[in-house]
Amino acid sequence: MSTHSIPPVIEIGPRDTAYQAAFCDYVSQVFRRASFRRWCEWGEWDDAYRAFSVVEDSRVLANASVMRMRLLLEGREVTGFQLGAVGCLPAQRGRGLARVAMEAALAFCGEAPVLLFANPTVLQFYPRFGFVPWRQDVFSAPHEAVPAGTPAPTLDLSDAGVRAGLAALSDEGLPVTERFGARGYSTIASWYAANGFSRPLRRLTEDAWVFAGVEGDTLYVDDIFARAPFDLRAWIPRLIDRPIRSIQLGFTPERWWPEASVSGEDTEAYLFVRGLTLSREPHRFPVLAHT
Ligand SMILES: CC(C)(COP(=O)(O)OP(=O)(O)OC[C@H]1O[C@@H](n2cnc3c(N)ncnc32)[C@H](O)[C@@H]1OP(=O)(O)O)[C@@H](O)C(=O)NCCC(=O)NCCS
Repeated sequence: MSTHSIPPVIEIGPRDTAYQAAFCDYVSQVFRRASFRRWCEWGEWDDAYRAFSVVEDSRVLANASVMRMRLLLEGREVTGFQLGAVGCLPAQRGRGLARVAMEAALAFCGEAPVLLFANPTVLQFYPRFGFVPWRQDVFSAPHEAVPAGTPAPTLDLSDAGVRAGLAALSDEGLPVTERFGARGYSTIASWYAANGFSRPLRRLTEDAWVFAGVEGDTLYVDDIFARAPFDLRAWIPRLIDRPIRSIQLGFTPERWWPEASVSGEDTEAYLFVRGLTLSREPHRFPVLAHT
């Protein structure tokens, strides 16, 4: 296909508010449920996030975004990147625009490891760019508990002070897993909160915050932001509003629930990696670190 008709790729960063608005319009046309507007208003678009957008007449036609990540691989911290918001406006598809955006994003990543979480419609798309699929597991454990004690207060991430607190815990605290995880991804977790997709953020102590909620008779603990280890089991009665019989973790629980076992594959993750060799041991990249 001729490329003479392909408009330029613009790199959008934290200070490019006009282009950010165009990017938000693009996202709402390509992804029905997801929005970046509130997240931008919250000031969460920082230097780690760059959108590589094909722009024509101030409109974003296609895009591939890059989030710089402090990845943890078997305990080792490595700078890597996570792709997100990859797409093309429906009327513009088939012109090679997403390819141009992907190539710009990947050029920015250089030789560093890159990962992304896809969806079932694009499983043959990412392999064209050197990505390979990788399995993600779900960890759970039987655990009976009943509510007791003062419920742990819920924190509201629309409060800038709460966002700053989460950023500090995520940057400086214990990573929830070191098998395959990351540090410093509070702006990803806050994106879920800004869209109303995250489970409640509960404050156990000043230095221990947990995204968790009960569904059926299972407590889902999606993430733990803490400065030091603590006894998660002892806190469970204050995190639940009805009896539970099991717990499911949004991350590899080698630190927080080592007895948990793999209850299946995470069939909704669709992880793809490039320049990254992961362990064959079961693992789950923290769900609130997926872009
Ligand atoms: C998938 C999507 C990004 C493709 O955009 P596009 O601009 O039409 O893609 P391009 O024209 O640049 O195609 C690039 C290449 O991928 C191929 N391709 C396009 N869509 C594909 C798909 N869904 N699956 C597999 N291959 C695909 C093209 O044939 C082309 O191949 P080639 O360059 O080797 O000839 C677009 O359909 C889209 O926005 N989908 C909805 C949003 C979405 O699901 N995004 C992924 C989020 S993880």
